[in-house]
Amino acid sequence: MEVGHAGQNTHLQAVALGLANVEVGAFRDEEVRIVLGVAGEVKTLYILPLGKPR
Ligand SMILES: Cc1cc2nc3c(=O)[nH]c(=O)nc-3n(C[C@H](O)[C@H](O)[C@H](O)COP(=O)(O)O)c2cc1C
Repeated sequence: MEVGHAGQNTHLQAVALGLANVEVGAFRDEEVRIVLGVAGEVKTLYILPLGKPR
């Protein structure tokens, strides 16, 4: 539920700033932790990429 709240707020703020945002819930957990440099420290639940709309 908390990550859903964070996702909703990210979407709302992205729209307010004229940005695009999607949610990604399927990814290789360990590879994401390695890329972020947080291996073993945190559990990744959600990826919220931000970008410029087409
Ligand atoms: C809970 C949730 C999880 C999602 N996970 C993925 C995902 O893992 N991979 C993916 O391609 N899209 C995922 N989506 C869909 C994307 O967020 C997005 O809506 C989709 O890529 C369509 O984008 P578009 O309308 O810009 O083409 C998920 C959507 C929700 C609501």
